[in-house]
Amino acid sequence: MFKIGIIGGSGLDDPDILKDPEKLDISTEYGVPSSFLLSGKINDVETVILSRHGRNHQFSPTQVNNRANIKALQHAGVTHIIATTACGSLREQIDRGHLVVLDQFIDFTRFRKNTFADSFENGAVHTAMAHPFDEGLRKKLYETAKKLDLEVHDKGCVVTIEGPRFSTVAESKMFRIWGADVINMSTAPEAMLANEAGIPYAAVAMSTDYDCWKEDEAPVTWDEILAVFNHNADNVKKLLVTVVQGLK
Ligand code: ADE
Repeated sequence: MFKIGIIGGSGLDDPDILKDPEKLDISTEYGVPSSFLLSGKINDVETVILSRHGRNHQFSPTQVNNRANIKALQHAGVTHIIATTACGSLREQIDRGHLVVLDQFIDFTRFRKNTFADSFENGAVHTAMAHPFDEGLRKKLYETAKKLDLEVHDKGCVVTIEGPRFSTVAESKMFRIWGADVINMSTAPEAMLANEAGIPYAAVAMSTDYDCWKEDEAPVTWDEILAVFNHNADNVKKLLVTVVQGLK
């Protein structure tokens, strides 16, 4: 039986999608998550939604308590996590509005707590991270997006930066040389913790901008990200609902 945790969530707590929604206030040994959990059913599949940046987008990327978020979903009994995120594109062919089913990350964060093991008193914790995104979920996301006729890329490496500032041109060009395809401020720490917790995790990233490496484009702004994300949010919603419906 599946119980799906969705992180990101904006727009998905629509009562027409989530049947019999119930608020869960869960606090964890790592603190309180970014928002209450909204628990309900999408076509009979139990689903729990968490708003990564808080219901009023009040937490900066550095402030998001990823440990509490992942633990709260674990305490709620989720078996799998699907995350959504906006991202900047580092490749010409990943245009605005396109979806990328991530398959690798590069961690360029500096101030995040990225393990549950604050000490090794109870044993060493060195989590395998070679393939941080669950292949089964990735396949479902990609195939469903294709069926829905969405512009989707079957893989992509995300570099997660600390933020909240955007990158310099030098950094943006460096990330391209490193092999990153998209850039954001959320995925790497979240994926690490989900893996450490043993919860299969996948993430679908929506490209909202070309960061600042592209010489024929103005550098990214927050307003641009919001506008492009909102314009295409229904596609992500449709994708998640269809994937979850198929997970019976
Ligand atoms: N999220 C969306 N676009 C981004 C960018 N260009 N850099 C970092 N995070 C982002």
